[in-house]
Amino acid sequence: MGRNLSFIPSSIPSSVQTLDFSFNVLNRLQRTVFPILSFLLVLDLSRCQIKHIENDTFNNVKNLTTLILTGNPITYFGPGCLNSLHNLQRLVLVDVGLSSLMLQMNDLTKLQELRVGTNNIESISLPPFMSTFKEFSLLDLHANNISIIKTDHTAVLREIVRNMTLILSRNPLLYIEPGAFKDIYLRELNIRSAFVSSAAQQAGLKALYGLNVQKIIFGKYKGEFRFQFSDANVLDGLCSIYFQEVYYYINERPSVPIYIFRCMINATNVLVRNGMIDEMEYVFFREIKELYLDYDHLGTLPGKQLSHLHTLEKLVIAHNIEPIHAGTFIDMPKLQYLDLSCNRMTLKQCCTTLLSGTPQIRYLNLSRNGEISLDVGGFDGLDSLEILDFQHTRVVGMGYFSALSNLKYLRHLDVSYSAITFTNIHCFYGLKNLNVLKIAGNNFQGDVARYLFNNRTFLEHLDMSYCHVVELHPNSFKNLQRLRLLNLRGNYLMTIDFLALPNLKQLTSLYVDKNSITSIPLHVLQSLPRNLLEFDLSSNPIDCSCSQTDFILWIIQNQKVLKQPENIFCKTFSPSSDFRAKDFDIHSCVHKKRLTIVLSVCFVTVVVLLSFLVYRFQFYLQYCWILLRGYRSPGQQECSYDAFVIFSSYDEVWVMNELMENLENGVPPIQLCLHMRDFQAGKSIASNIIDEGIMGSRKIIVVVSQHFIESAWCRFEFELAQSRFIMERNANIIIIILEDVEERKTKKVFGLHKHLKKNTYLKWSRDPLSNMRFWIRLRKAIIATNH
Ligand SMILES: *[C@@H]1O[C@H](CO)[C@@H](O)[C@H](O)[C@H]1NC(C)=O
Ligand SMILES: *[C@@H]1O[C@H](CO)[C@@H](O)[C@H](O)[C@H]1NC(C)=O
Ligand SMILES: *[C@@H]1O[C@H](CO)[C@@H](O)[C@H](O)[C@H]1NC(C)=O
Ligand SMILES: *[C@@H]1O[C@H](CO)[C@@H](O)[C@H](O)[C@H]1NC(C)=O
Ligand SMILES: *[C@@H]1O[C@H](CO)[C@@H](O)[C@H](O)[C@H]1NC(C)=O
Ligand SMILES: *[C@@H]1O[C@H](CO)[C@@H](O)[C@H](O)[C@H]1NC(C)=O
Ligand SMILES: *[C@@H]1O[C@H](CO)[C@@H](O)[C@H](O)[C@H]1NC(C)=O
Repeated sequence: MGRNLSFIPSSIPSSVQTLDFSFNVLNRLQRTVFPILSFLLVLDLSRCQIKHIENDTFNNVKNLTTLILTGNPITYFGPGCLNSLHNLQRLVLVDVGLSSLMLQMNDLTKLQELRVGTNNIESISLPPFMSTFKEFSLLDLHANNISIIKTDHTAVLREIVRNMTLILSRNPLLYIEPGAFKDIYLRELNIRSAFVSSAAQQAGLKALYGLNVQKIIFGKYKGEFRFQFSDANVLDGLCSIYFQEVYYYINERPSVPIYIFRCMINATNVLVRNGMIDEMEYVFFREIKELYLDYDHLGTLPGKQLSHLHTLEKLVIAHNIEPIHAGTFIDMPKLQYLDLSCNRMTLKQCCTTLLSGTPQIRYLNLSRNGEISLDVGGFDGLDSLEILDFQHTRVVGMGYFSALSNLKYLRHLDVSYSAITFTNIHCFYGLKNLNVLKIAGNNFQGDVARYLFNNRTFLEHLDMSYCHVVELHPNSFKNLQRLRLLNLRGNYLMTIDFLALPNLKQLTSLYVDKNSITSIPLHVLQSLPRNLLEFDLSSNPIDCSCSQTDFILWIIQNQKVLKQPENIFCKTFSPSSDFRAKDFDIHSCVHKKRLTIVLSVCFVTVVVLLSFLVYRFQFYLQYCWILLRGYRSPGQQECSYDAFVIFSSYDEVWVMNELMENLENGVPPIQLCLHMRDFQAGKSIASNIIDEGIMGSRKIIVVVSQHFIESAWCRFEFELAQSRFIMERNANIIIIILEDVEERKTKKVFGLHKHLKKNTYLKWSRDPLSNMRFWIRLRKAIIATNH
């Protein structure tokens, strides 16, 4: 359709059953236009600019059951062109410029529907052969130019099967010959907007006397010119028509009050719409089953007028234009369905004040009214209720007590947007069979929602949208094994962790759109109900970051289940971002992850390496720090000792007995710093060596022996000592060779070999004479100042 094609492609498979070729350009129809399509049943050629139809046009598609030629300016019908269509059931010739029903279609014996609306037909006369069409059941003549109907125009109708629908709406009917429809049986007669004036309608209805019709539809379409009602009895003609159902679309406010129902008392179904009726008449309907009164000006519910109708099963009084006062419907033993929606009604002590003696009532619609107050025992006698609708009506009392406890058959309860705050967890007590519960747009006090549904095990549909719910306890739905639809749209939920419990096995539809969900953990996604067909997650502030790759990957992979996946936006970047979650580049996260791992490994390696180095060279570092400290205030360094002795503990005996003895007790006494005696307890050895020994002494005495060379501590101390004096450019290290050490070994100690070569050193010997000289030289060396 709509492709500007000027031919029917021969590539269409011959098995095709339906071909919609509307809105193309065919101009002229002939046999060669159609390939052989033996199975084609439905052909739509609407608005193809067809002007000319040849005799043999449909030979290749002769099994058609439906042919639609709407909106073509056909000027030539080949004689008998339709007659090849023996199986045709529906023929649609709407708006084709037809001026008469005298079509050559005598072979169309299976015809059921003939739709010829919007043409220039002036007469309802059918070709005589149509009286043999056994299945003919619909003649649609709407919007033609029929102004007169005479008795001989209806001759074929009279003979035709008794089950036909005749549509004459939107014709300019002026005159119907009285009796033209006498003894005609119709299933339906539609004469809505079929008369040019109120008077023509009044006369026309009268002329229809003797007609038998199941359903009669009359009145007007909205927005058409106004009738002038001058006579209260305009509808009297209806009294001599036999009908069961009457649909009267007044669509204006009659200028004089008219008797609407007087001739409708034998009807079973009565609809009077948009008549703006002020007051209902007393009508003694004898067989009424259904009564619809909408868009009226009633001041009070016509309880009095309609009570005691023992046959009435369905009553709809809706869309009253002004707030309506409540009334009481009494003694209507068959009433099952009562719709009083959209009446802006205020009702105290619902619902026994409204209904009494209506034991069969199953459906009660009080939606879109003003305010309804529930009372204890308010539904006594209404035990059969199955459907109860209070939506968009302020309902007082519902949240505080179990007002509905006797409604054990109630299947459907709608209290959406009813300004209810649920404070009592037993509000729905007794509703054993509740299937559908809609409580959207209300409030819960505290954690009432956690318990409210616990016993509603039959619930299949729960609507809790826009209920200001911030958080849902996982047990809220624990017994709802049958739940199939759960609507939580428009709340403030941040998580849907309640889905992690395996209760909601049957869930097929879940709406959590317009909440505050940033992410859903993987374990929740994995435990989503298996049968889920629809999951609406749109309009949530989805966190699209690399920490959410599992979640986003799930979104990308489950587009089929997700409703409106194109509306799942990332709010990570900015609150107004319109970046779609499904467009998020997960691969870039993999790269980022790798990079992060590599960088982390490098960092850890560097840290470990540094720690090792720091540990290994901790003393040097400390020393450096102390040096730096010393450098900052070189003059403040005060020496508490004359000399610090570096020696191996194996040589301790010599140091104590000889060195200490001779130096400290001589004149003048020389104050030595000995580690075992002078180091401060509690301070680390390194600090002691540096603070007390090396920095706190003017000179350093190094006692070199085999043990000295082997001791790591000694070597360390010696290295530190050298570095101090390198800084200070003083040769203040006094070396005592306690025992001979091979030259090779002295090289093991950094700087010792060089020092021994460059500087004089003292050599200890046991010979008393040289011994004496040794002490004198040592003392001198220590006392010698640096200046
Ligand atoms: C339709 O097709 C005709 C020729 O067959 C061409 O002249 C015309 O422009 C087309 N119209 C459109 C809307 O493509
Ligand atoms: C069209 O077909 C009918 C019979 O179906 C025949 O009588 C008539 O002559 C044909 N007309 C033309 C123009 O072929
Ligand atoms: C409708 O029919 C009347 C005669 O009944 C005629 O004068 C008028 O031109 C017709 N209108 C159209 C649009 O064919
Ligand atoms: C009457 O026609 C309608 C279709 O318009 C069909 O559904 C119904 O079964 C028919 N009834 C009889 C009794 O033929
Ligand atoms: C209603 O039916 C009764 C008996 O069948 C008949 O006497 C009466 O005239 C009818 N009234 C109308 C308005 O059709
Ligand atoms: C009740 O009436 C309202 C308004 O006419 C309608 O929208 C709603 O669907 C009805 N409720 C039920 C349960 O049929
Ligand atoms: C559920 O029913 C049990 C027994 O039927 C009752 O004891 C309990 O209070 C009910 N709980 C709620 C929240 O209605």
